[in-house]
Formats: sequence, C-alpha cells, structure tokens
Amino acid sequence: MKIVVSVIKADIGSIGGHIKPSQKLKETVSNYIYEHGIKTKEVIDYRISSTGDDIAILMTHAKGTLNEQIHKLAWDAFVEGTKVAKEQGLYGAGQDLLKDAFSGNVKGMGPAVAEMEFDERPNESFIEFAADKTEPGAYNLPFYLAFADPMYCAGLMLSPSMNKGFKFVIMDVSHTEGDRLIELSTPEELYDIAALLRDNHRFVIESIYSNNTGEPAASVSTTRLHNIAGKYTGKDDPVALVRVQGAFPATGEVLAPFSIGHYVAGFMRGSHTGPLMPVKADCPISYFDGPPVVSAQAFSMRNGKLTEPADAFDQPFWDWVRDQVSQKAMEIRRQGFSGCAMLPYSELEYGGIVEKMKKLDGKFKIRK
Ligand code: F6R
Ligand code: MG
Ligand code: MG
Repeated sequence: MKIVVSVIKADIGSIGGHIKPSQKLKETVSNYIYEHGIKTKEVIDYRISSTGDDIAILMTHAKGTLNEQIHKLAWDAFVEGTKVAKEQGLYGAGQDLLKDAFSGNVKGMGPAVAEMEFDERPNESFIEFAADKTEPGAYNLPFYLAFADPMYCAGLMLSPSMNKGFKFVIMDVSHTEGDRLIELSTPEELYDIAALLRDNHRFVIESIYSNNTGEPAASVSTTRLHNIAGKYTGKDDPVALVRVQGAFPATGEVLAPFSIGHYVAGFMRGSHTGPLMPVKADCPISYFDGPPVVSAQAFSMRNGKLTEPADAFDQPFWDWVRDQVSQKAMEIRRQGFSGCAMLPYSELEYGGIVEKMKKLDGKFKIRK
C-alpha cells in the first residue's frame, strides 16, 4: 500500500514573545486532529510536536500528496488553535495563517508543508526535521553533504544500493508566478548542484530521489512567507522529511552535517545571520530570539502506524555541538549590525527599513 507522510507546521501563537507555544495550544491542535482525523479514519496516525514557536502536525494517510481533506484538517486544527491562542493572549496568535479562507491545499497559505508518498518498506524509517528562525535554504548544505558527499555519507562509497547517486529537484523560490524547478543528478552534475545550493535565499532543495530505485528520499517545504504576504510575517521556518537506511543514507549520515552549525538567515527579527543549532524536540527559543534551531525526530512505521519519536539530537554528543554553535552565535553577534551579521537589504523582514532608506535617500546631496 502506498503511504503518505505529511508534515504541516505553523506558528499560531506563543508564550512571552516568540518562545514556545502553550501546552493548551498543542493539546487543542492534537485533540482536533484526533477528533476529526483519527476518529473519521481519514488519517492513519499522527504526532504533534513543537520547535521554537512552531507547532508541527505529522500525519500518515493513504490519500496522496496535496490532498484537500488532509490539508484542510491541518488548517482547521490551526484555526481552532488560534482561538485558544487568542483566549490565552499568546503573542502572534494565528500569525502564519495568511489567508482568510482555505482553498485546495495549504501551499501558499502560510503553513509549511513537506510530504512524501511511497511504498512502505517492511522496516520503514524516516526523520522529521523542523527548523525555527530560519528559511528553507537552511537544509541545502546538510542535505547536499548527506546525499552527495562521501566525506559525510560513507554509504556513497560503501553501499551498492547507493552507487548511482541521487537526483536533486531544486526550486527557484524567487519565482512567484509558479513553481520553477530544475532536476540535477549526482555524481555527474555535482558542481552545478553546488553552484545553485550556495544561494540559500533563492535556490532550495525541494526533493531528492534515489537513482538506484527511483524512490523518494527527501522532501522540504519551500514556502516563502515573504513572497506570500509581501511584508514581514516571520521567517519561513521550514520542515523536511528524510527516509533513511537501505537505499538511503544511514540516519547518522543524515544527522552528521548538522554538527557544522552553519550560518543561516533568520536570527532576531528574521533579519540576522546565525548558526543553525541542532536542538531537542519541543525546545524553546531564547538568545537574541534565536539562535536558528532545528529538531530531528526519527520514526519507524508499519502500515502507516508510527512508533514514538526517537529524538535524534537528544544525545550527549549534541550537547558538545550546541556549545560550539553557541560560540559561533556569540562570535557573529559581537559585530552587531555590521556586514554579514545582518542580512542583505532584500532579505530584511521589516518594511520600516524601506521607508527609512527612502527618507535618507532624499537627504543625499552631490558635492559640486
Ligand atoms: C519571530 C522572530 C522575532 C521577532 C521579534 C520582534 O519569529 O524571529 O525575532 O521578529 O521578537 O517581534 P515583533 O516585531 O512581532 O514584536
Ligand atoms: Mg514566530
Ligand atoms: Mg517560528
């Protein structure tokens, strides 16, 4: 049977600023999915988690990707949650629900979505990633290294089931009139892939497929809130799904590149550069409204029924990584607004700077 794994995530309000959603909010979203998804048998199984100020709904079902019922279920759960967020006076209640009425699927409506449909393996294993205070391109480097670089993915050298490499589907997210995509394959087109993926703001991995089996290996949310709302609404806080083991990289090969804590966009006011810190699930946001964080929950699955999550960054090794990443965060924060510490003009999330620059522009004079 073909199973679909869908993860749909939104910020619908959080405690004390952008720290974390309330327990009641998470329970409301969870109860809604249980009442209207599990009891109706629309959904086979689900899990609710939070990363920073975002709530992620992970669902398994057999209705295909971009399914209207499934997406509406998640949307309605977030709408229901928003009522509670307002009652509790949470900050940014309903922040990511950018449209008034649901239409078709949640793509382009605010929530981030990543989905994969596949024939379930007898020992199906996958990882749900959820990042906060950053953009979809934050996954470019770790997934490039995990799927294309034998320095991180030893399986590319050692495993015959990965010897043909992977196909990367990359989206130009600056193109707003439709999905503009390119397909490139490793190892032949490695340099072309790198040339695109260096630009995290514009070119984003949308999905990855095994060249050995044709099977889907990874899926990333590519929503740019910036392009939907045309004004500051927070960073895009992307989710991703990655299948692991067998014809795919081992779990540890997918996790390894997250030890770099590479610098990404999205620290304070969605307008600064910060290192991506691998954190435990349900971890709040703190220093300088950051740093940008990513959680990784691994699951096994049989007939669409999920195990409990194994929190992949909840292990002593990652405490050491978090210390290193904290140092990287302090290092870049020491230079405040200067140069690469703040994002380029086009990526600043606040409209106010545009007004300020216009006003200043009029005050410039050409010296005779
Ligand atoms: C939000 C975020 C925060 C806010 C900041 C100011 O996801 O990253 O850094 O941008 O707390 O929030 P506002 O402008 O809503 O008061
Ligand atoms: Mg927020
Ligand atoms: Mg967020």
